[in-house]
Amino acid sequence: RSVPVIAIDGPSASGKGTVAARVAAALGFGYLDSGALYRLTALAAQRAGVDWDDEAGVAAVAAGLEVVFGEGSIRLAGEEVEGAIRTEEISQGASKVAALPAVRAALLFRQRVFRCGAGLVGDGRDIGSVVFPDSRLKVFLTASAEVRAERRYKQLIGKGFPANMQAILLDLRERDRRDSERSVAPLQQNEDAVLLDTSGLTIDQAVDQVLDWYGSAS
Ligand code: C5P
Repeated sequence: RSVPVIAIDGPSASGKGTVAARVAAALGFGYLDSGALYRLTALAAQRAGVDWDDEAGVAAVAAGLEVVFGEGSIRLAGEEVEGAIRTEEISQGASKVAALPAVRAALLFRQRVFRCGAGLVGDGRDIGSVVFPDSRLKVFLTASAEVRAERRYKQLIGKGFPANMQAILLDLRERDRRDSERSVAPLQQNEDAVLLDTSGLTIDQAVDQVLDWYGSAS
């Protein structure tokens, strides 16, 4: 039997990263934060002076990324960038470069190598549809835009950053629109994915639901 994969796809700030990492820890599986690869590509392109809409240029940057993932740490060419890739500017840049087919193709093999060991939990937009279509469980994890904006707001305030609820909501909607309307691997719930709306759930409840589903799927 091949290495089992749990795919957790959904919109930004839905909490899928937190849930995916917790499910992976509970099962002793690896964890793939695919959004980080798009964020790293946007950051590396910016630093190299490559425009985010230069498809061939950004694809070359994606193919050449020198990245090392650790626990709560991401190194790009030796430099810690876990904070630098989470800014609002890089979030928008990531969603721009993610709309370019050559960039998605360049990042595909980098995602597939994460499938090793006891199992893998991957989170993103197209893990269940494109990266690992044979995932044993596919979850579409979402929450209302208002709930997602509120979570992002509390997270920023909690870290001591200034935050504006209205601006966050607008940014989220803009990124949702770009992610859903693009022609390659658009954000959408596929028919073989189960819907998990976490608007009224705690993280623990969401994690337990995924573990339950996985238990019945394997
Ligand atoms: O999940 P996260 O917000 O970190 O992803 C950043 C951006 O990367 C998203 O807005 C989306 O455009 C893109 N992305 C993608 N496919 C994935 C993961 C992320 O297109 N599998």
